[in-house]
Amino acid sequence: MGKIKYAKIASLKTASDLHKYLQKIHVSLPFDAKLKAGPDSPLNQPFQHAGKNIGNRFCVLPLEGWDCRPDGRPGELTKRRWKRFGLSGAKLIWGGEACAVSDDARGHPQQLIINETTVEEIAQLLHLLMSTHQQHFECSEDLFVGLQLSHAGRFCYPDGKHIKPHLVYHHPILDRRCGLRGYPTLRDDQVEKIIDDFIKAAHLAQQAGFDFVDIKHCHGYLGHEFLSAVLRPGKFGGSFQNRTRFLREIVLGIQKNVPRLEIGVRLSLFDFLPFGRGQNGIGRPEKISGEYPFAFGGDAAGLGIDLTETIRLLDLLENLNIHLICTSAGSPYYNHHIQRPAFYPPWDGYLPPEDPLKSVARLINITAELKKKRPHMIFIGAGYSYLQQWLPHVAQHVIGHGMADFVGLARAILPYPEIVADILHGKSLDKKRLCRTIGHCVTAARHQLPSGCYPLDPFYKSRPEYAKLRRIITSGK
Ligand SMILES: Cc1cc2nc3c(=O)[nH]c(=O)nc-3n(C[C@H](O)[C@H](O)[C@H](O)COP(=O)(O)O)c2cc1C
Repeated sequence: MGKIKYAKIASLKTASDLHKYLQKIHVSLPFDAKLKAGPDSPLNQPFQHAGKNIGNRFCVLPLEGWDCRPDGRPGELTKRRWKRFGLSGAKLIWGGEACAVSDDARGHPQQLIINETTVEEIAQLLHLLMSTHQQHFECSEDLFVGLQLSHAGRFCYPDGKHIKPHLVYHHPILDRRCGLRGYPTLRDDQVEKIIDDFIKAAHLAQQAGFDFVDIKHCHGYLGHEFLSAVLRPGKFGGSFQNRTRFLREIVLGIQKNVPRLEIGVRLSLFDFLPFGRGQNGIGRPEKISGEYPFAFGGDAAGLGIDLTETIRLLDLLENLNIHLICTSAGSPYYNHHIQRPAFYPPWDGYLPPEDPLKSVARLINITAELKKKRPHMIFIGAGYSYLQQWLPHVAQHVIGHGMADFVGLARAILPYPEIVADILHGKSLDKKRLCRTIGHCVTAARHQLPSGCYPLDPFYKSRPEYAKLRRIITSGK
């Protein structure tokens, strides 16, 4: 692979350095040069929703660990991660991690599954998070915790040996990449069964004690794929009405059968063409002839943004009395840079085709645009981990100026969960534990190793898997 030509965030030492660099790369990313701490900080303001007083404006985004037991129960590492979510100090926990609604909905064999056998241990996982939080912050009443309900769709890989996709439609590029040409697409009656699985899972999530469930519609997984099923025939494809039927039927089913459970949606707000490695390993979009109709929230060229349908979906959700939107973009499997801005690519990825700060700014500014257009919706932002020491400065500006309601963090939490509490208390950040987005967490997962921060979390660093991971990274295989 080639060299990365962008400035490292650690090298931008002062606000003036950051400001000048953003100007140089023509990126608009507002930040507060001076931080406020304690009760004066916008990040410390509570937020009222669904009769709860959510204690601050930080959210832990979902983070899978590829570390559950083969039957879908949490493993020891899963418990450690959830404990650390509680330790972070964030008062909104969005989903914990992708939890499969059935065995064959799994994206990998170490995924959490919710069913009658696992629900008790998932309830204990939630309890562990809450009691850890209570121990460190003396109050867990103001926590708001959801479970992310997931079906991996075309990325199902339940036994880790054979890909067992559930295709909504034939995607010319993704089918070719995974050798799925001619593979059957889901029949409508199979879709109805999956809708029932989500409703059943929501019921169990309430039984486990969660405040809400996320009906995941992001990252190229099943729900997200329905949104772009423009060429699918029948009642789940074609028109906007039909493409959102899967989501509507799940929501209506949950509202009827589990009436007191809140619902949120994690949504890829926009999408681009699939990318792959181009010259020198730099990300390059696939070449197409003609229009690209498969990017929900994208334009027909495949590299631009058109939020018309995204806004239509927000309106549909508001009409269904759903206000919680956790933002994201694209998919980690085909255009990771727009979703998870990083300096170094994961093992199966490509070098950033644009300065990752541009990718961060895109996520933040589009969320702000939507918040302005639909102020009654509650937006959780994403993509902040790349900002490192500038994270609190951007987060404070975003919340202080109403550009989002919560700042969501994922990778930054893995080595340094206390980053949230440190920011809220005005402590200087522990630079040795700041995620530098080097992608080992994803590379581990791609090799079915538990995911964690191997370089910066001593617990993972001392695990035997780290030697294996280093061999994989050095050999490039
Ligand atoms: C190891 C790892 C696991 C993830 N697991 C999930 C998941 O289970 N569900 C989900 O919606 N997103 C998942 N994500 C995406 C993150 O929630 C988040 O959107 C992304 O990492 C960008 O946020 P960040 O810059 O704070 O890391 C995962 C990301 C990583 C790196």
